[in-house]
Amino acid sequence: MKIVVAEDYNQMSRMAANLISAQVIMKPNCVLGLATGSTPIGMYNQLIEWYKKGDIDFSQVTSINLDEYRGLAPDNDQSYRYFMDTHFFNHINIDKKRTHVPDGLEPDANKVCRDYNKIITDCGGIDLQLLGIGINGHIGFNEPGTAFEKETHVVDLAESTIRANSRFFASLDEVPKQAYTMGIKTIMQAKKILVVANGKEKAQAIKDAFFGPILPKVPGSVLQLHNDVTLIGDKEALSLILDEIE
Ligand code: PGA
Repeated sequence: MKIVVAEDYNQMSRMAANLISAQVIMKPNCVLGLATGSTPIGMYNQLIEWYKKGDIDFSQVTSINLDEYRGLAPDNDQSYRYFMDTHFFNHINIDKKRTHVPDGLEPDANKVCRDYNKIITDCGGIDLQLLGIGINGHIGFNEPGTAFEKETHVVDLAESTIRANSRFFASLDEVPKQAYTMGIKTIMQAKKILVVANGKEKAQAIKDAFFGPILPKVPGSVLQLHNDVTLIGDKEALSLILDEIE
């Protein structure tokens, strides 16, 4: 495991963008596993900037996103498809047909999961998987207690998550109650993994995931078993592990 300490959010974003960029330059038709959330936004902005300068070409890249809400249309501004389009894909030359997010509108959940696993297998697996981490150690929507051997599956969102999300919707009824997520098994099959984290509220999760026991109650702890993980965090997110790595 490689741990890189960034001064601040901007440096974290630039360093993470550098790894993605190196992957695309080394293998222009690579498969990138991508993530939503507030953490990677700066990284996406940096990649867009380099793309606009002509330094990086996404025309042959395939992308596979980690997760999506069940029941949301792609043009719903809370869907992860919408997030990816507006924060990244609409600003670069990636072929939208090669960008994959679980289908939030398909009524048959088993079909969504089956199809998504097939997409991942058919494109030859993920070369580089980007991950954020939740304050409870979750990766994707794999919450504490999720079995390590799962592939893409449906998750019932916790009551607290539904209530927290309700601020983005007109009423509680409109808040999705379920989500699709790539499973931990799928994530662990990626050739390389890049974890980004910033802010002191992530410090305990980072310590538990990277230096604690490997247990389903801390989903991110499974990453200790992967042989090519890079964690890039700002000083605050890494504050509780600085002693271990210096
Ligand atoms: P965040 O989410 O980037 O918005 O903090 C990360 C996560 O919960 O996986």
